[in-house]
Amino acid sequence: MATYDLVVIGTGPGGYVCAVRASQLGMKVAVVEKNATLGGTCLNVGCMPSKALLHASEMFEEAGHSFAKMGVSVSSPKLDLPSMMNFKQQGIDGNVKGVEFLMKKNKIDVLKGTGKILGTGKVEVSADGKSQVVETKNIVIATGSDIARLKGIEIDEKRIVSSTGALSLEKVPGRLLVIGAGVIGLELGSVWRRLGSEVMVVEFLDRILPGMDGEIAKQFQRILEKQGFAFKLGSKVTGVEANSKALLAKIEPAAGGAAETIEADVVLVCIGRTPYTDGLGLKEAGVALDPRGRIQIDPHFATSLKGVYAIGDVVAGPMLAHKAEDEGVAVAEIIAGQAGHVNYDVIPGVVYTTPEVSSVGKTEEELKQAGTAYTVGKFPFTANGRSKVNQTTDGFVKILADAKTDRVLGVHIIGIEAGEMIHEACVLMEFGGSAEDLARTCHAHPTRSEAVKEAALAVGKRAIHM
Ligand code: FAD
Ligand code: NAI
Repeated sequence: MATYDLVVIGTGPGGYVCAVRASQLGMKVAVVEKNATLGGTCLNVGCMPSKALLHASEMFEEAGHSFAKMGVSVSSPKLDLPSMMNFKQQGIDGNVKGVEFLMKKNKIDVLKGTGKILGTGKVEVSADGKSQVVETKNIVIATGSDIARLKGIEIDEKRIVSSTGALSLEKVPGRLLVIGAGVIGLELGSVWRRLGSEVMVVEFLDRILPGMDGEIAKQFQRILEKQGFAFKLGSKVTGVEANSKALLAKIEPAAGGAAETIEADVVLVCIGRTPYTDGLGLKEAGVALDPRGRIQIDPHFATSLKGVYAIGDVVAGPMLAHKAEDEGVAVAEIIAGQAGHVNYDVIPGVVYTTPEVSSVGKTEEELKQAGTAYTVGKFPFTANGRSKVNQTTDGFVKILADAKTDRVLGVHIIGIEAGEMIHEACVLMEFGGSAEDLARTCHAHPTRSEAVKEAALAVGKRAIHM
């Protein structure tokens, strides 16, 4: 019987990163994966394929709409969807191979099959009707999440799809109805709108992107509407019927009232994700869940069963790949006797649309609710030289700082490249920096990042270019 220092169940960004770090720290490690390929949701049906399609569809739209005004004359671009899907698949394959390489390089055993915890130190791995039991000093559960379903709406991944089906549609739907104005709805809605779909988004709440700063979300909604998105906020889909020609979605006001029917060719259900623990044998083994079905952990990622830890989407916190990765590193270090930790106050979030939206730290709504006195500095890209010459002036940078100490508490950006620009704010906040620190840091000219410096100057009411 094989024995290990650590067995990690699941090879998404949480699991494979944890395995690599543990191997670096001298542990004998195995990963267990039930999927045919490594990399989890993120690499196979999440972050990476969605970003490949976002990139390709953005290029398609740019070629059709933006090239001419820059004096680049091209004939009207034609969509070759199978080739675009092939581009996406090449991206997936490249990244999956990269994880396989990392497993080999770090001498990590890959056990293909479904992992089940039999108790402290014992994992059963089953595949194709055969099973083996491996012994290990420690177990990390990194089994991720699954799509949340809507009662009465059956996902067939052809006409009524989750994000997985929406990443592989065989033709551009004439009318795409998106249920849920969260990250998936707006990213994948953008992909198909750019490729030609009419997109309507139905959202239960009276705003899009709950959790993001309200002012940013409002401006984002206006920009998306200009691009052609239609929103039905404060509404819920109560059922979808299919006939041979179309899907008929029944939509009601969230507060109750008269229902209306909207026709669509494809319906995308993206109302969140749920922790995935099927087949792990947690109940029998004595691993406790919280009331929302997530694995319960203490501040050191330890579950209720000795020697068993959990990280990533299957535990509380934002369901983000980089949060899972950082937890993977931290738990490996803790198991090795080091002081691994994750700073949950500084986890960036990015929506990879055009423009992008990025955020780190507190929103204005959260500061108000906590009764924290704060100052705001804002700077629009219309006043940023680089954005002006590129004619990409949508959006602004918003910095929230403590009114007494000037410590930066939150940074929110909407604009082209916002996802790259957020990281100087992350570093600043990780070091407890102030708006003054940011304002006094030299920024290269001409860059869009100068807008971040100007927003920091605006906290002290001394922006130069406004
Ligand atoms: P996962 O990546 O879900 O991996 C879990 C793995 O465990 C899977 O491979 C699964 O097969 C395996 N597994 C489960 N049970 C068992 C078992 N019993 N035995 C063996 N193996 C098992 N996040 C971002 O940060 N940025 C993005 O841009 C982004 N885009 C996304 C786009 C989409 C469409 C979706 C759906 C998600 C996106 N996410 C994004 C979220 C991101 O994918 C997750 O936060 C991340 O994958 C979580 O990592 P994880 O390691 O916890 O789990
Ligand atoms: P989400 O939680 O971001 O958004 C779901 C939306 O659906 C919310 O606005 C919610 O109010 C709404 N909703 C819930 N029930 C509804 C109903 N019955 N009718 C209408 N609206 C309803 O979830 P989403 O978009 O499914 O994404 C899942 C997870 O994947 C997210 O937690 C996110 O962290 C992760 N993800 C991250 C990405 C990124 O970092 N760029 C990209 C895609 C996904």
